[in-house]
Amino acid sequence: MATQTTDTVTIQPACNLRGSLSVPGDKSISHRYAMLAAIAEGRSSFSNFSTGADCASTLSCLRTLGCRVTHGVTVEIEGRGMKLEAPALQLDCGNSGSTMRMLAGILAGQAFESVMIGDASLSKRPMKRVIDPLTQMGANVSSQDGRPPLIINGGNLKGIDYKTPVASAQVKSAVLLAGLFADGPTSVEEPMRTRDHTEVALRAFGADIDRQQNRTTVRGGQTLAGIQAQVPGDLSSAAFFLCAAALFPNSNLVIDGLGLNPTRAVLLDVLVQMGVRTKVIQLEERHGELIGMITIEPRELRGTTIEGAVTAAVIDEIPVLAAIAPYTKEGVRIRDAKELRVKESDRLAAIATNLHAMGAKVEEFEDGLDIPGGQQLRGAEIQSYDDHRIAMAFAVAALRARSETVIHGASSARISFPEYFHLLQQLTSE
Ligand code: S3P
Repeated sequence: MATQTTDTVTIQPACNLRGSLSVPGDKSISHRYAMLAAIAEGRSSFSNFSTGADCASTLSCLRTLGCRVTHGVTVEIEGRGMKLEAPALQLDCGNSGSTMRMLAGILAGQAFESVMIGDASLSKRPMKRVIDPLTQMGANVSSQDGRPPLIINGGNLKGIDYKTPVASAQVKSAVLLAGLFADGPTSVEEPMRTRDHTEVALRAFGADIDRQQNRTTVRGGQTLAGIQAQVPGDLSSAAFFLCAAALFPNSNLVIDGLGLNPTRAVLLDVLVQMGVRTKVIQLEERHGELIGMITIEPRELRGTTIEGAVTAAVIDEIPVLAAIAPYTKEGVRIRDAKELRVKESDRLAAIATNLHAMGAKVEEFEDGLDIPGGQQLRGAEIQSYDDHRIAMAFAVAALRARSETVIHGASSARISFPEYFHLLQQLTSE
């Protein structure tokens, strides 16, 4: 079904998706576990750590900050306590916004200068959202007009009470991590609930955190203790398979060891609304994160509207939901998704251009898309814009197209899910 050259993958139309799989460790949780392990006392060890290049960027920055990190079957990190080592090199965050924004919070608490850089995509992404609160806390952060590189001179932080103007888990996390190094308490209030992995992980590493509705408070001066943990499977990676299975009524898919944190699992509610039955079995809790096995029973695919708090909760899954939207009965309306314009690519534009290339009708708005249902798509040449989620989402759209699709820039999948095209090939039948 999928033929791969170095950077191009050809996808043939399929007739169903069947089998069982487990997906690599959650990217968001892997970043957080690694960063907290670096500033904890003692050794941490993580199994099923994300295999994506983004989390490798985090590990590489932590090495440059003096941490001993080994990456074999498990990732082992020797914690340095709250003091990292002044970096002799620039900290290269690669394509990873999570690395730059969240690590900036820790670096704001370190009494040395660090320079954070990123690739061409990351260098265009907005950083003012972390610069503002970290500056209010007393760090000195300079940038190129609100974009990377960031030069951070940290230390001597004071706690703040901060209302995040954008719903961003990365910003919330940066402020809470800086709060660990501040004098007094630091509170973050968010306009709507975003993923809470930082809060959950902080507790797992022994920190005291207080949460009242959308407001989280951390006390400065706490110490963390290393943990041994298994990283739950990444629901945002599983999303491609769940949506691909949803395209074919005779699909049968089981995903094991999947992270089902309620702040991430909203995709399942959206799928249920779209007529797709999912069953969660063997649910257990590990270090505050829920892990379960999920099965999916597709039916006729219905349309839906994704807006408000739901948009924020499924922000990383919108590319793949948009990719299956033309095949739904009533179509999909997406709003309040302006943030997608400042992800690894302008995802709203990338989705609209690629759907048009496949012959679909789609209307683009500043903050969303209207994708009518009942459409037949043709295979096409797809551009990933070097964005992993665009490359992977359009491989899903291609499965129900009438002819073969060529995805250019497919190697961008390595950012979050290097095994993706291989697994897709194993599970689909022509
Ligand atoms: C992430 C938060 C989201 C998400 C990103 C990962 C995280 O970004 O899109 O892929 O791990 O906290 P924002 O914080 O910019 O919304």
